[in-house]
Amino acid sequence: MTNETIHRSVLTAEMKTALAVKSGGTYLDGTFGGGGHSAALLEASYPDGKVVALDRDPMVEPRGRQYEERYPGRLVFHQMSYHKMKDLNKLFDGIVLDLGMSSDQLSATGEPIGRGFSFSRDEPLDMRFDPTSGASAAMFLRQASLLEITRMLSELAQDRYSLTLARKIVETRRTSPIKTTTDLVRVIGNSNPKVLAPIFQAIRISVNRELEILKAGLLAAKECLRQDGRLAVITFHSVEDRIVKSFFRENNFELVTKKPIAPSEDELQSNPSSRSAHLRAGIIKEESES
Ligand SMILES: C[S@@+](CC[C@H](N)C(=O)[O-])C[C@H]1O[C@@H](n2cnc3c(N)ncnc32)[C@H](O)[C@@H]1O
Repeated sequence: MTNETIHRSVLTAEMKTALAVKSGGTYLDGTFGGGGHSAALLEASYPDGKVVALDRDPMVEPRGRQYEERYPGRLVFHQMSYHKMKDLNKLFDGIVLDLGMSSDQLSATGEPIGRGFSFSRDEPLDMRFDPTSGASAAMFLRQASLLEITRMLSELAQDRYSLTLARKIVETRRTSPIKTTTDLVRVIGNSNPKVLAPIFQAIRISVNRELEILKAGLLAAKECLRQDGRLAVITFHSVEDRIVKSFFRENNFELVTKKPIAPSEDELQSNPSSRSAHLRAGIIKEESES
């Protein structure tokens, strides 16, 4: 991955408004990616606001270092998962989590990079945000039980034919391992992106334990916010959105957004990848004594 980014940040203006970004504030960007949200936070908190930026993907680190040089004393980057933010021992005025993957993980400046996230390229089936830890998607499809694969497909891909596809995966792997994106597309037996995208997304969410990490990350965020600090979360999947909605309801947050904010018509036109994005935000309130 180069330091250049092809990722287009989503709901940037809405995120800045939701966090009420101000000069002198301290912010956590838990999902740095292409750096667009960090740049927006730095600009809105000019001249002395500070950003701590995190990303789990080691290939994002050079861009993080480049930002540290570009914004001396104002941005610090750490290659780590946002659910470990308590390790930073810091309190923030605002935290943003923009979930999922960035366009840079599909291809760097338009060139394939072989991470296995995309069904339109022939690549090894990896899909890990951090390729140095955990099992790859190929390993997951080799080791998961029929029940686990069926459950993953029905819960996350909302696929009506989950059991049929899970059986095909289990049968195929007996004779030939599913090692590449092309192998997986062949097993699915359908080249329609509307069929492939949710299946690839479901496998990616499982491989990276994204829901588990989201739940832990939200609880960590609650402890890392100053009083009246704000949390904004951008989701791309209905199950993630439900987790965020329940979290705000069950914890001591005053909602900034009564309903989730979706991209405007203009944003949808200029960046179709934003179509499933939903932003929810809340302000942490002191626990009332009862
Ligand atoms: C949608 S992109 C973020 C884009 C970014 N907000 C921007 O404006 O360019 C999501 C990023 O989050 C990272 N990511 C995913 N899970 C993470 C986690 N648990 N901790 C930290 N980063 C994570 C991915 O590696 C990816 O770079």
